[in-house]
Amino acid sequence: MPQWKQSLTKSLHQTRSTPESRYFQLATVDKDGFPFCRTVVYRGLTDNNQLVVVSDTRTEKYQQLMQNQHAEACWYFAKTREQYRFRCTGSIVTVLDDQPLVSAHWNKLSDAGKKQFLWGNPGSERTSDSALQVVGDFQNVPSHFCVLLLQINKVDYLNLRGNPQCREWFYQNSEGTWVSQSVIP
Ligand SMILES: Cc1cc2nc3c(=O)[nH]c(=O)nc-3n(C[C@H](O)[C@H](O)[C@H](O)COP(=O)(O)O)c2cc1C
Repeated sequence: MPQWKQSLTKSLHQTRSTPESRYFQLATVDKDGFPFCRTVVYRGLTDNNQLVVVSDTRTEKYQQLMQNQHAEACWYFAKTREQYRFRCTGSIVTVLDDQPLVSAHWNKLSDAGKKQFLWGNPGSERTSDSALQVVGDFQNVPSHFCVLLLQINKVDYLNLRGNPQCREWFYQNSEGTWVSQSVIP
């Protein structure tokens, strides 16, 4: 297991009692090169080093990743004072691509979590102050529900504990082996 993955596993374990440690920032770019950054929930890390996020194909990040797979995830663990920046290649999986995978993630959501996908188009005008209508049901996976797989290509790790602080870059060499380099913070 690459060293950064061991560190991340440890960070997740050490912060397991703080729900906000499961949120990270995901940045993508639009067709004009404008960056967009938003908070998402960490849903796992695959054996082949893909961060897993659930999302909606009607959001901006979907369009942006379809046009440009480059993405960056930035994750700060306040308790352990560690920051991970992951350079990623993003791909999107819908029920049409992988029904078992997408259904498994849908079924893991709470009813409150599922409801957020059944309110209508994210970002479209809200015309009334009344409660949002739920369209669809919790049993069926909506066609716009998707899983984002963010393949980690490079890691910039910064640990603020200690004096001096520690910063390490991790990347794969030409043989595909993860190597690291310590750098000045
Ligand atoms: C704490 C928190 C967690 C969030 N988790 C997710 C998530 O896992 N997936 C998601 O698509 N949006 C999530 N959002 C909403 C996004 O930050 C964003 O507002 C939404 O996805 C629309 O972004 P976009 O149109 O730029 O893609 C979360 C927001 C917050 C504040």
